[in-house]
Amino acid sequence: MRGLILLVALALVVFVPAWSQRASTDAEHVTAPEGSGSNKGGVMADQRQLVQVSEQERLLLLHNMADMMANVASILDGLAANDRNVVAKAAAANGMAMMQNLPSSLPRKFPKSFAQMAQETHNAFDQIAAEAKTSKSRQPIFKHLANVLQTCVACHAAYRFKSDH
Ligand code: HEC
Repeated sequence: MRGLILLVALALVVFVPAWSQRASTDAEHVTAPEGSGSNKGGVMADQRQLVQVSEQERLLLLHNMADMMANVASILDGLAANDRNVVAKAAAANGMAMMQNLPSSLPRKFPKSFAQMAQETHNAFDQIAAEAKTSKSRQPIFKHLANVLQTCVACHAAYRFKSDH
């Protein structure tokens, strides 16, 4: 009997970590590109790089982020309703204009790859806006929207804002 209990305990020690490890590797593969948190011993470690900004700037950036999300929702609404004007307007609202309207103090504080991903994102939305006006099919717009959302995911995995005052 004691032998059996020992065997069961051993099996748990050997197999349970193997399962949970497999699960976390899979999850990382799907949702968390390089640079995001890692799960060591069940505790998430935040490895995102800090983007140091003032508290006011942080709030403005988060506000823009929320607007971007809302505009993505409108783009999908427009696509579902086959309404190119709705798509074009919402996409343009996420375009370079959004970045150009930031206070001039801000872009200087962005790490290089952060700034690149931001530019890429806003440019892609300007392209989607142009495409919405001319494209016969919605298919390329879906494709470009899916691509640009990958950039949102990549940047969120790599960075977070921290206010220094
Ligand atoms: C260049 C980097 C970058 C890109 C590109 C980016 N984000 Fe963000 N986003 C951030 C950072 C950094 C935060 C704040 C994370 C933190 O501090 O915890 C954030 C936060 C957010 C939030 C949370 C806002 C809140 O009020 O807390 C939303 C929603 C969001 N982003 C939506 C989007 C969407 C949608 C896209 C793409 C269309 C996008 N973001 C693209 C960097 C980015």
